[in-house]
Order: sequence, then C-alpha cells, then structure tokens
Amino acid sequence: MRLTVFGTGYLGAVHAACMADIGHEVLGVDVDKEKIACLADRRPPFYEPGFQETLVRALESGRLRFTTSPAAAGQFGDVHFICVGTPQRTGSFGADLRHVDAVVDALAPHLRPGGLIVGKSTVPVGTASRITRRIRALAPTADADVAWNPEFLREGFAVQDTLRPHRLVVGVQSGRADLTMRRLYAPILRSGVPFISTDPATAELVKMAANSFLAAKISFINAMAEVCDATGADVMTLADALGCDPRIGRRFLNPGLGFGGGCLPKDIRALSARAEELGVDQAVSFLHQVDAINTRQRQRTVDLARQLVGGSFAGRRIAVLGAAFKPNSDDVRDSPALDVAARIQRGGAQVCVHDPVAIDNAKTAHPSLEFAADVSRACRSADLVLHLTEWQHYAQIDPARLASIVRTPTILDARNALDLELWRSAGWTTRALGRPEDA
Ligand code: UGA
Repeated sequence: MRLTVFGTGYLGAVHAACMADIGHEVLGVDVDKEKIACLADRRPPFYEPGFQETLVRALESGRLRFTTSPAAAGQFGDVHFICVGTPQRTGSFGADLRHVDAVVDALAPHLRPGGLIVGKSTVPVGTASRITRRIRALAPTADADVAWNPEFLREGFAVQDTLRPHRLVVGVQSGRADLTMRRLYAPILRSGVPFISTDPATAELVKMAANSFLAAKISFINAMAEVCDATGADVMTLADALGCDPRIGRRFLNPGLGFGGGCLPKDIRALSARAEELGVDQAVSFLHQVDAINTRQRQRTVDLARQLVGGSFAGRRIAVLGAAFKPNSDDVRDSPALDVAARIQRGGAQVCVHDPVAIDNAKTAHPSLEFAADVSRACRSADLVLHLTEWQHYAQIDPARLASIVRTPTILDARNALDLELWRSAGWTTRALGRPEDA
C-alpha cells in the first residue's frame, strides 16, 4: 500500500520506517527540513535503540522516502497517518491540537478521492469527529474518511512495540476503512496480535485511559511509599508482594521519583480537562490526585536530600546521576531528575549532572546546571549523590571506587534500583524513598 506519515518526530519516524519494513511504500512528511534531511541521510534525530537499523533497512529497500510537500503527499498516498505532537496547552491542562489541525488543513486540498486519514497522535475524545467535519468542509468532493489508530509504543522499545504490539486498536467510521486497516497491518496481525475494531471515540479514549491507568498505578505505589516512610515499612517488599497477585501485576509498581516524559503527565491532564468540558469531571477527578502524588515525589526527594546534607543546601555539592525522564532515552521532557536537580540548585547547592545519553538535551533545557561527561567527574567532592534515572550504567558503578572520589559517601536512590547492601558494604550511607534506612 502507499502510505504517508505526517510528522517525523519520535512516533512518526518509527512508524514510517516500520511500515516500510513490513512492505509498504511510505512517504514521510515534515515541515522541518533539517529533520527530514537527517532521516534521509540515515541519521535518527533522537536516541532510540534499534531504530537506526530499521531506518537504514527501509531506506535501502527504496520503500521509504521523505518530503516537505503536503501536495506531493496528497498525490502519493492512499492512507495518510497523522503522527504530530499534541503537547499540553500553555496555561491550561487541555491538549494543544494545533499541529493536528495544521496537517489536516495542509493535506485536505491535495487528497485523492477515497483517501483515508488515520490519526495516531494522542488526542482528546471527539477529535476524529471534529476532524471529519473539518475535512468535509475543506475538501467536499474528496470523499475522505477519518479513522483513529492510537499508538502504545514506549520510548526505548519503539521498534519492538510497533512491530510486535500487545494490541492494535482502530476506530473506524466505515467498513471500507476497517478493511483497509486490516490489510495494512496484515503482516503484524499474522502473529496473532489482537485487532480491536471500534468507533473513533472509543479508540481515542483507549489511549488516554491506558496512559492514565499506568500513571495511577505508579502514583498508587508512591502513595504507599509515603505510608511506608511514616511507619518504617518497606515499599519494595510491599510492591513485590502485591505484584504476585496476577490481578495486580508487578509491572509499573516501581516506587520512587515518579513519572515524567512527554506522555503520561500531559495525558492524565488532558483526560481530566476533556472530562471537565464534557461535564463528567467527577468521574475522573481522582486523576488530579494521581498528578499531585506524582509531583509530590519530586519535593520529597529534595527534602530528603536536604536532610541528608545537614538541613541546608547552601555551600553543598550534589552529584545527580541521570537526566533523561527514564533510562534508554535521551528525552528530557518533564524529566523528574532535571526538575529535582533544578530545585536543589535553586536551594543554594552546586549541582553537577551526569547522563549517559541525554546531556545535550539536558543542557538545552537547563543551561544553568553544571554537567559532567562521566560519573567520576560529576561526583568529585560531592556531599551527596542522587540516583534519579535508573540507567543500567549506574547499577554497574563500583561503590568502593566512587567512595574515594566524593567528599561524603552518602547516596539517595530515588529510583529504588541500586543494590544498597553493596553500597553500604563499601562504606556508604544509603537512603531510598519508602524504605527503612537499612533496607
Ligand atoms: C508511555 C506508555 O508506557 C506507552 O504505552 C505510550 O505509548 C507512551 O507513553 C505514549 O503515550 O506515547 P513512555 O512515556 O515512553 O511510554 O514511558 P514509560 O515507560 O511509560 O514511563 C513513563 C514514566 O513513568 C517514566 O518517567 C518512568 O520512569 C516512570 N515509571 C514507570 C515509574 O516511575 N514507575 C514505574 O513502575 C514505571
């Protein structure tokens, strides 16, 4: 099939390369000439394990090309995917749909008759039906159809999640669109992936609900961590015990600094904002609590850090391990690690941050922080080490060697991911959120 993919950011670039990889002719479209040039030159503009190989394979097959021209895309494709960003609106909790609308406006005049537009971006429920009206007004003779096909890929596992998803959800308005989507994904469906065909509103909501549920699970265990701190109980043992029940499951019950990134925080807010617009806000008002519990973990980490350096940050040197919002990613959008680093710096400490891959993005986001290219340099003469993003790299640190570099061997593991017994036996004082001092 001949597909176009509008938006070659994280979601679009991976989707375009994977669709070419399974045999489709794909044209990636973006307004950003530089991004297009990078991709066409086989250079991913972001860090994602395994993506470059897929990109190179797709380009070499001749099935993946790029353009900045919506007219060329309209002429080329039978199916047009919308993969642009839907960030949080400035000054409110709602989603900013201006990029989605810009794609629709640019594409509509060039649509060939019978074209199918498929949204993949995460949007508030009701967006597909609004876009359908918009396209019919802009291109009344095109007989275009609109479907929604949310994406569930995780950064760090994007290629794997696209080619071997847990489910494919499509919200369609016609039998023709349903058939097109089944044909398009046939190579993926062959391995038995569940195909859920529904209406666009349900499809839009599945995505928002999935991310909100994941966020709620994390905030639940972090609320329990707060209770553990007040009672001397151990949240890690609690999470393990809860997770043994298959109805609960252990995944996404990792307590600590909480969630960040470009998806979970904005999606819980967008869902509650949309629910408020629809007059059903009481049904999801607990999402405000999910958000509040999550944000509170950042201040809890700052407060514990202050306590560990004797009650004041003034004149203290703090090493921060991790800048990305999670490991295996160079994404620093709403990064809990950088937020904590900035708060501690504002409190008067000298903060030096290390990350294995996200340093460049972190420098752009927080130019006032100090950065180091290796762990030893970041930790030199530190009064406290904070472990804020659980890269595998940090699990391999030799605590005895690092003890000779810092001023005071004290570590706060805000991700509950280090073997603290090992650190203690190398002479470190250790602390973690939700755990007794000697856990
Ligand atoms: C999330 C969803 O997991 C994907 O299914 C979805 O497609 C994606 O958003 C999206 O909407 O595009 P992602 O943002 O890549 O994926 O990251 P996650 O792996 O979900 O992690 C989110 C945050 O939660 C990270 O900051 C992570 O450190 C934190 N987290 C995760 C915890 O604090 N505890 C956990 O147990 C799990």
